[in-house]
Amino acid sequence: MPFTWFPGHMLAARTKAAEAMRMTDLVIEVLDARVPLSSCNPTVESLRRAGQKPALKLLIKADLADPEQTRPWLKRYAAEGGVQGLAVNAKKASDVERILPACRALRPDRGTAAKPLRMMILGIPNVGKSTLMNALLKRSLARVGDEPAITKVQMLHKLGPDMVLIDTPGLSWPAMEQETAMKLAATHSIGRAAYDEEEVALTLGRILLRRYPGLLAARFGVFSRPCDEHGLLAFIAASRHLMKAGAPDLARAATTLLNDFRSGALGRITLETVDD
Ligand code: G4P
Repeated sequence: MPFTWFPGHMLAARTKAAEAMRMTDLVIEVLDARVPLSSCNPTVESLRRAGQKPALKLLIKADLADPEQTRPWLKRYAAEGGVQGLAVNAKKASDVERILPACRALRPDRGTAAKPLRMMILGIPNVGKSTLMNALLKRSLARVGDEPAITKVQMLHKLGPDMVLIDTPGLSWPAMEQETAMKLAATHSIGRAAYDEEEVALTLGRILLRRYPGLLAARFGVFSRPCDEHGLLAFIAASRHLMKAGAPDLARAATTLLNDFRSGALGRITLETVDD
């Protein structure tokens, strides 16, 4: 099933983001540490490069990602000119406190009352931007929720006299590759109505079987024979006694796998390595 998910308000948001980019000194790009590649919006990336804006690549949900994979991603960002990476759990105050100093370090020429540091925060829907904004602003401004694309209006916030933060709605992009869309559905950055859970769970299962077979075995039991993603769903259904009309209930097994991945119950997992 091809993904054609690109709501009209996102088209308007993209135009606004392009306008705001011109008045920005630094871009804070919020990426999901579990899918650093797929959560990187190519439209944003090309706008930023064209405008030659420095960027802080913020790998959020790092508490759910595999630290062995997060490290090489940070190294790779540091090797790019004008870019730094930082891995955070947006729900942990000590992590959030490291963000603004990292921004200042990227633009030491700005950040005074006369020349405030103007930062633009960008990220795909449901990546955790509202949680982060709330933590940065230390009060509940944005509504935090688990259904994508809640922040619909671009907002400007003063962070003291010398820093300004421009918030933007969660941005997606058209003509997304199928594999990317599947991974973003697995991390719940694409709304439930736009995909088939079983199809997404099969993609997730295929990656997990290749990269994290030990975590799957620890959660669902040891498979007795080599297993592909279809076999994995059948195995999960059997191990959890999920049956429907005498047959394994693959739909419920798919939901179980997705929920366990999203909540971190399966363990700390990254679906994309720098070599991808
Ligand atoms: P958005 O503005 O980008 O759309 O995302 P939002 O902040 O609404 O966050 C989406 C979900 O991601 C929320 O979960 C939020 O708590 C969670 N989240 C954000 N940052 C992090 C992080 O660094 N680590 C982890 N583990 N989770 C994060 P939720 O299910 O709506 O609710 P709840 O977890 O607050 O109960």
